[in-house]
Amino acid sequence: MEVIRRGAEAEIRKGKWMGRDVMFKARVPKAYRDPELDSSLRTSRTKNEARLIQEARALGVPTPVIYDVDVIGSEIVMQEIKGPRVKDLLDSADDALRERICEEIGRMVALLHEGGMTHGDLTTSNMIFADGRVWFIDFSLGGKNATPEEMGVDLHLLKEAFQSAHSDMLRFYDVIMRSYSSRFARSDEVRKKIKSIEDRGRYT
Ligand SMILES: Nc1ncnc2c1ncn2[C@@H]1O[C@H](COP(=O)(O)OP(=O)(O)O)[C@@H](O)[C@H]1O
Ligand SMILES: [Mg+2]
Repeated sequence: MEVIRRGAEAEIRKGKWMGRDVMFKARVPKAYRDPELDSSLRTSRTKNEARLIQEARALGVPTPVIYDVDVIGSEIVMQEIKGPRVKDLLDSADDALRERICEEIGRMVALLHEGGMTHGDLTTSNMIFADGRVWFIDFSLGGKNATPEEMGVDLHLLKEAFQSAHSDMLRFYDVIMRSYSSRFARSDEVRKKIKSIEDRGRYT
């Protein structure tokens, strides 16, 4: 089986499960944590991620199908989404495609927030472009019953991701925000929160 990524929290491998092309996402033990705490953290994060991936899909946001969750082994088996990461695609795409992708990102984040969910790590590395749609992965830091402040944090993070990975494309972040705002009734409240997060950052 091919290891795709060894992150701080999780290891991602690509392989087959019941004849399907899947990704295995396993949370790895941390030696510096108390073993009991470590295992309960890994279990709760694995469950949280699997649950949120499914709930996001119920809201209409494309996410991988979850085939299996091994709570003890802290591993999720999910559909492999075959396509480029939005992070890489934005670099090579023409402006028309960039516009379309960013319009779609805004629409999907509006659906998530409308449903009371936050993603928790909203960067273009956690989005995959496939079948003409933007798919969202990596919900381990996401949550439910979100406040406008938490939604603001989601979008502020996305803006920071644009500033670092796509600094020549900041106008496309504005496309995301326009698309989001036109579709989400509480976007005014969220925009105010983003502004206060930014002001706080400026003076501290
Ligand atoms: N279901 C999936 N389909 C396709 N690629 C995936 C899938 N899940 C993860 N990946 C790939 O593995 C990388 C890391 O996965 P992710 O869930 O974001 O873990 P991490 O918490 O380490 O960021 C992603 O950026 C993506 O390239
Ligand atoms: Mg990730």
